[in-house]
Amino acid sequence: MNDLYKRRINYLRISVTDLCNLRCVYCMPAEGVQKMKHQDLLSFEEIVRLVTIFARIGVKKIRLTGGEPLVRKGIEELVAMIQSVQGIEEITLTTNGQLLEDKAVLLKKKGLTRVNVSLDTLDPEKYRKITRLGESAPVLKGIEAAFKAELTPVKINTVVMKGINDDEIFDFAAMAVEKGLSWRFIEFMPLGGVGEEQKHYYMSNDILIERLKKKYDLVPYPHKTLISDDYVIPGTKAVLGFISPLSHKFCSRCNRVRMTADGRLLPCLLSSLEYPLRKMIRSGATDEEIQKRIEEAIKNKPKEHLFQGFKPMHTIGG
Ligand code: 5AD
Ligand code: SF4
Repeated sequence: MNDLYKRRINYLRISVTDLCNLRCVYCMPAEGVQKMKHQDLLSFEEIVRLVTIFARIGVKKIRLTGGEPLVRKGIEELVAMIQSVQGIEEITLTTNGQLLEDKAVLLKKKGLTRVNVSLDTLDPEKYRKITRLGESAPVLKGIEAAFKAELTPVKINTVVMKGINDDEIFDFAAMAVEKGLSWRFIEFMPLGGVGEEQKHYYMSNDILIERLKKKYDLVPYPHKTLISDDYVIPGTKAVLGFISPLSHKFCSRCNRVRMTADGRLLPCLLSSLEYPLRKMIRSGATDEEIQKRIEEAIKNKPKEHLFQGFKPMHTIGG
């Protein structure tokens, strides 16, 4: 369905857990976070019921996020259940890649279309610092496994942080060219959950584009619906994408809403507006009643963000 500003909402992002096996500096506090009570998590059946209702009003694409979605037990089965919902054409997943190598083949078999893998550095030591817990080698293996399993195009997400990993952008571009990857540079957002120390990590993607253009011929690749500004490098399969929520608001192109793992529907990442659906589901609401509430949420999707009402990122997965 369309919202009030004629944006067609056809994309639902579902966080399936708030837990994560990493503690990235831009996402979580060092000590981790208090986890949701198990009974507060939507069950697979509840998620699929919601997906069915969303599909009825025009959602065609589902993305599973976290925390880290691959730590939710039985995630492959959820993919299979969603894939059998009429009207759903694409199921994708955003993962940190730690557990991807082992799961790629099964996820593909159950109906996953493709994956986005978060990787902020190619330097193992830096990776440990940024994620506070992780090793990068399994991520690289996970990316290979995703390729082999044809979870393609594989897209890499990198949050670029000034003075931390912005010196690596040419290495990322080179790897994108070498492997035919789509590499996406995401502006750091100073959201809830990150501390004072991180606040000055922000840098505009314009600076990256300017730097990369000195070495590469970046040809704009126009599309209407995606929020990233994409460029192809002629003669290669690489796509460099820039997601710039702060320097270039893309709200007018926004086609998505988000569901938290505990069943709150968020019309906008950067607004405090939320619609708790879990209680409704568990107190016997009909599909029609739930659908009405969802339609109301979409109608109230803000025109654009004022950058307030920050949600802690680990509860929404980007
Ligand atoms: N700023 C920008 N992107 C973020 N993500 C998480 N926290 C932030 C933040 N503060 C995104 C990253 C990551 C995904 C899981 O969520 O793209 O890869
Ligand atoms: Fe985990 Fe992703 Fe947050 Fe890193 S960014 S802590 S991998 S949820």
